[in-house]
Amino acid sequence: MISKAKLSDAKGIKKLVDDHARRNEMLGRPLSVIYENIRSFIVERSGKKIVGCCALYIVWEDLAEIKSLAVEPRNQRKGVGAKLTKAALADAKKLGLKRVFTLTNKPDFFIKQGFKKIGKNKLPRKIWGECIRCSKYDCCDEDALVYEL
Ligand SMILES: CC(C)(COP(=O)(O)OP(=O)(O)OC[C@H]1O[C@@H](n2cnc3c(N)ncnc32)[C@H](O)[C@@H]1OP(=O)(O)O)[C@@H](O)C(=O)NCCC(=O)NCCS
Repeated sequence: MISKAKLSDAKGIKKLVDDHARRNEMLGRPLSVIYENIRSFIVERSGKKIVGCCALYIVWEDLAEIKSLAVEPRNQRKGVGAKLTKAALADAKKLGLKRVFTLTNKPDFFIKQGFKKIGKNKLPRKIWGECIRCSKYDCCDEDALVYEL
């Protein structure tokens, strides 16, 4: 079942995200960052195990970003990623946000969820801080997509 993450989910979230980061599918997250932002995370549990996670980070009064969307390989293609995205968008709407964007190398997944591709230069500069730490800084393969609420 999809629910807001608890502090006790942080290590499970880290494992899930880091497993994908090792495969170059997303950026890893230090545990400290997950604790700091635990209120932003939504998770799917199977028993005590975290099998999916997604975070909604607020950027500005009308803009938020979906980050760290990951589903355990064994549980992929069962609708978990779509449910997590839908829950993050519902949360964004409840908060009064107008737009949610994501930077991703899985654009087709997000297009299926109703996102539309946009030029990266349409996003505020503030969001690029994280890119400086990325190993793909000079060869970024991510697309920017936006969902209008
Ligand atoms: C991308 C990811 C989150 C999708 O999660 P998932 O649970 O497998 O996706 P779902 O089963 O909810 O799929 C929903 C729809 O998207 C489609 N889809 C899933 N992964 C897709 C992909 N990589 N490319 C295109 N479409 C995809 C599904 O076929 C399904 O289509 P349908 O509605 O027509 O049936 C998952 O594959 C994952 O964790 N990947 C590794 C980490 C990553 O790349 N995260 C995203 C980048 S931030």
